[in-house]
Amino acid sequence: MNPSSSFYIETVGCQMNVLDSEIAAASLVRAGLKQVDDTKQADVILFNTCSIRQHAEDKIYSALGRLKHWKTDVKPSGVIGVMGCMAQKDQGLIFRRAPFVDFILGPGSLDELAKTVLRFIEEKNSGCAAEPVMLLGLNRCSNRNVDVAESFRLFDPLRLSEVRPNPYQAMVRIMFGCDKFCTYCIVPSVRGPEQSRPPKDIIDEVKILAGQGVKEITLIGQTVNFYNYNEDGKTVHLTDLLYRLSEIDELRRIRFVSNYPTGITDDLLQAVRDLPKVMEHIHVPAQSGSDSVLKRMKRQYTLSEYKEMLDRIYETIPNVSVTSDFIVGFCGETDDEFEATADLVRYGRFKNSFIFKFSERPGTKAAELYTDDVSDEVKRLRNNALLDIQNGTSLELNRQFIGQMKTILVEGVSKRYDDGTVQLSGRTPCDRIVVFDSPDETPVGKILDSVIENAAPFTLFGDIKSGG
Ligand code: 5AD
Ligand code: SF4
Repeated sequence: MNPSSSFYIETVGCQMNVLDSEIAAASLVRAGLKQVDDTKQADVILFNTCSIRQHAEDKIYSALGRLKHWKTDVKPSGVIGVMGCMAQKDQGLIFRRAPFVDFILGPGSLDELAKTVLRFIEEKNSGCAAEPVMLLGLNRCSNRNVDVAESFRLFDPLRLSEVRPNPYQAMVRIMFGCDKFCTYCIVPSVRGPEQSRPPKDIIDEVKILAGQGVKEITLIGQTVNFYNYNEDGKTVHLTDLLYRLSEIDELRRIRFVSNYPTGITDDLLQAVRDLPKVMEHIHVPAQSGSDSVLKRMKRQYTLSEYKEMLDRIYETIPNVSVTSDFIVGFCGETDDEFEATADLVRYGRFKNSFIFKFSERPGTKAAELYTDDVSDEVKRLRNNALLDIQNGTSLELNRQFIGQMKTILVEGVSKRYDDGTVQLSGRTPCDRIVVFDSPDETPVGKILDSVIENAAPFTLFGDIKSGG
């Protein structure tokens, strides 16, 4: 191999993808390649892709289109790989639309990345015509769950502290895949069956991360509160994991995303309340406030069940913040159904909500059973209407913090001023961003107390008092 080979990874999509890219980068660095942050310096260009909405896919196809010229005129020996959910979903279509792509590699084959890249580099350097390859290990029909689980066990231990985007925070995967099959969602078919990692693997990984200086971990899974692992005949749940992880001395903060509403148990809420290291934030997507839409979406709860769950969260955990996801313009959504969602956004007192326009995904039940009949214009209007309601709540809730002291983990620099001083940004236990001015970067990575002086819908403005 050419020892100076370098790679560039472009990542889109959710936290799973961010973590997969970190693991991909670690495996390539271990294999002797160098990571660069510009395609111009790269010998290998990788796209870690997302299929959740059409827009995410369109962006990748146009980025690939721009690379045609790189491959033909600039670097004929260059290697291009497409990873992630689009690789799994579109498979051969990617080669048809972008024939200069060398390989596609699905989320279940991450452990094959380094050897695939090395093989392409070698073949191209020796002037061979390298054949394109597809590595897709997540087919629900042809793979046994146990084989998928075993392949996953190989990935996460590949991580390397040097390539983590932030030395103080890390994501830790506790589950793969999803078995919920919401009718609009492509995830279950591209990320494979739901699998929980063994508690020991998770705890060992977190101990290593904490030893490397990580203060905050975020446990990630598509339905993280459905984590379950059979250990010596007893089921280990997310709540048990939170207790076990809390015992790791150097670790200071634990978060977990994303929850599915039906699994918010009293045990879990009490653990969040009682364990000082577990942060008071619950992300629990509602998707809609209309029972008929929830039914068409095959969400397994009603509006009143979701509201009852919200009430329990607020009653159990003091100072908790709750966040949600909503989809507007799902197939057949009427004005009344949309109004029911608007009412839920008002009722929910969410810290913030992620609001999406429905995007039909071929291969999902919604695409098969229903018509994507809400116009783009109506989707846009409904999206804006929900955002207006949510922004009002976000500002109102944030204003209540003015004058209060909040403990923050300082994450990094958000602005540099001409006089050499900086604005730093940190995060409260309830997941709010606090920015404050500082003469230099020394507070980064520290947990400090900040007095909140002002508030905007998505940001608190603070001043630093103390901490360590
Ligand atoms: N169209 C729009 N939004 C979607 N989501 C999932 N699938 C779709 C789709 N087809 C949203 C859901 C989910 C979030 C991650 O993305 O709100 O919670
Ligand atoms: Fe998609 Fe539903 Fe699974 Fe979330 S729970 S990943 S929305 S199928």
